[in-house]
Amino acid sequence: MKILIAGGAGYIGSHTVQELILDGYDVTVFDNFSTGKRDFLPSVRIFEGDLMDKKSIEEAFDKTDFDAVLHFASLIEVGESYANPSKYYTHNLFSSLNLLDVMLKKGVNKFIFSSSAAVYGNPETSPISEDHPLRPINPYGQTKYFVEKILEDYDRAHDLKFISLRYFNASGADPEGQRGEVHNPETHLIPNILLFLLDKRDSFFLYGTDFPTPDGSAVRDYIHVKDLAKAHVLALKRLSLKPESEFINLGTNKGYSVLEIIDKVEQITGKPVRYTTSPRRLGDPPVLLASKDKAERLLGWTLEYSDIETIIQTAWNWHSKL
Ligand code: UFG
Repeated sequence: MKILIAGGAGYIGSHTVQELILDGYDVTVFDNFSTGKRDFLPSVRIFEGDLMDKKSIEEAFDKTDFDAVLHFASLIEVGESYANPSKYYTHNLFSSLNLLDVMLKKGVNKFIFSSSAAVYGNPETSPISEDHPLRPINPYGQTKYFVEKILEDYDRAHDLKFISLRYFNASGADPEGQRGEVHNPETHLIPNILLFLLDKRDSFFLYGTDFPTPDGSAVRDYIHVKDLAKAHVLALKRLSLKPESEFINLGTNKGYSVLEIIDKVEQITGKPVRYTTSPRRLGDPPVLLASKDKAERLLGWTLEYSDIETIIQTAWNWHSKL
């Protein structure tokens, strides 16, 4: 199968490219390299283009007859999305619309979308299953929610068959050390602690000590990026065998608080983490935990790398090497 991977040079995209290649897929990466990295990519066909420029998407489709498209390219910073919602709505919606319109025009109707736990907003039940109400609380989450609605409409109107994968907290790095988490600016918990320990940050802030959780810090569901990547391969297989649109959570159903993560990092690195407490960030829910039942049932997905020690150890190896 010939697959186009938009945003394939990014953190989750490049791990998925690697898994698809190992599984024998013919992969083309479409990326503008604004945040993606060429050295994250194995030997693969690359098309440098921008999803905001429909012509460049058409050129990529003129070159190859794709069977399916995976779409990872997105702006992902919740804080920035509050400060600059226009940037988020414009980029995340138009890039998705352009890609969908071109692929449908070229007769491609299989699509895997990188969605987020952010579509749920503040959870009313835990763990969160896919039928939980969708009430995103920040512009970033709204953009993911709107794309999901667009996908449903395109399914009805144009027979688009999609799987929207709702990621919880992607973390860890390739155990082989070829690729890992790099964001600029970095806002995520595990890299921020590790960068601080490596003297690449002056301080590390623990945001929020008054959440309604056992130790007062926020609880998240950390999922290893390699397990996330493998889920995409399974989703692609399912879509080929059973062309039905689905929304599927990707998480572990196990949560760690920020203080527990700090503790684990100290154990694994052998270094003390001297943190500064700070008020909660805008829009941080107290607890986000995924039900993984649907992913297991529909995709046959099993977790191999998502124990917290492997997540932190692979991330530490990656950041120490950079
Ligand atoms: N945190 C800190 N200090 C830091 C960074 C994070 O204390 O330097 C805390 C956050 O406040 C939060 C937890 O660590 O309580 C996890 O924060 P991350 O930024 O690592 O992840 P989020 O849960 O905020 O965000 C993730 C994805 C988003 C997605 C969201 C779903 O990165 O893209 O889950 O709600 F939108």
